[in-house]
Amino acid sequence: MSKPKVFITRRLPTQLEQLGHIATIEVWEERQPAPYKVLLKKVKTIDGLLCLLADQIDQQLIEAAGTSFKVISQMAVGYDNIDIPAATARKIPVGHTPGVLTDATADLTWALLMAAARRVVEADRFARGGQWRTWEPNLLLGPNITGATLGIVGFGRIGQAIARRAKGFDMKIFYTSRHRCDQELEKVLGVEFTAFERLLQESDFVTIHTPLLDETYHLFGDRQFELMKQSAIVINTARGAIIDPEALYTALTSGQIAGAAIDVTDPEPIPTDSPLLSLDNLIITPHIGSASLQTREKMANMAIANLIAGLKGERLPHCVNPKVY
Ligand code: NAP
Ligand code: GLV
Repeated sequence: MSKPKVFITRRLPTQLEQLGHIATIEVWEERQPAPYKVLLKKVKTIDGLLCLLADQIDQQLIEAAGTSFKVISQMAVGYDNIDIPAATARKIPVGHTPGVLTDATADLTWALLMAAARRVVEADRFARGGQWRTWEPNLLLGPNITGATLGIVGFGRIGQAIARRAKGFDMKIFYTSRHRCDQELEKVLGVEFTAFERLLQESDFVTIHTPLLDETYHLFGDRQFELMKQSAIVINTARGAIIDPEALYTALTSGQIAGAAIDVTDPEPIPTDSPLLSLDNLIITPHIGSASLQTREKMANMAIANLIAGLKGERLPHCVNPKVY
């Protein structure tokens, strides 16, 4: 019997040996994602797809998959690029990689929070730009982090990992989420559950950790920025479209908020002519939340484990749509 065929949409930071024992592997070797047309053609002839968040796995693509197509395995925890109802309708399980990237993403979030507060990127430009003449009492001042109030929007794996870091900085920590978490856990983490509006009004730093869903699309718009302190700093390492980019631009240029740091943009990558790129009070990183060496290897291995299970007709270890079983 011939081996099942799999398509992997980019070179992965791990070995493919184990997968190679059971499947014929084709890897898209380019740095840019495979064009949609290529994916559309591929899914007709393969048994499994290992994809990334930059691949658009929509209803048309899922419906075009051949009859032997068994599994979609995404190397990411977020899966807003995949039409899950369409996959479920075809009984195709979708795998993802939760947990292994929690700390790396929380670390990057913390780096952005600290960099935005203490103006690290501006200061680096200043020093390299030959402007450093002397020690100045008023040079590049920013707010305190220690003892400040932090608002965490979305209190799942990454949101809670942020609270653990904030505790070490003696912060007052608010969170809002769809469900209140266990009160014992609240005590351990030293957090207070509160309404979204109050969190916006009282926080010095607001950090976003919800998935991108219909109800979180542009969750941050003009009204939300207006509610915030003028000294507030917003950090987004979740998904770009949770913030309305025009509202962010207005808030940052009108002084409604003091600064922002974002690892994700809408659209992604950020267009080179975006007005946001001209702002000194905004830090932008190119979606590198999980980009530690160890984390990316774990994510790749987890995605391969999901893929192999799907090819064998076994339950995926980390399945987004268990309704298929
Ligand atoms: P998670 O454990 O599922 O946590 C998400 C949390 O958001 C859940 O607690 C959920 O609440 C809450 N939530 C959902 N809708 C909400 C709403 N409307 N308002 C407030 N809270 C809401 O996911 P995670 O592992 O922490 O990851 C979170 C997101 O981060 C991912 O979906 C992904 O998009 C992003 N991410 C980005 C990077 C990066 O490289 N920048 C890396 C990893 C993850 P309930 O549990 O009550 O539903
Ligand atoms: C990264 O953004 C992820 O969802 O894993």
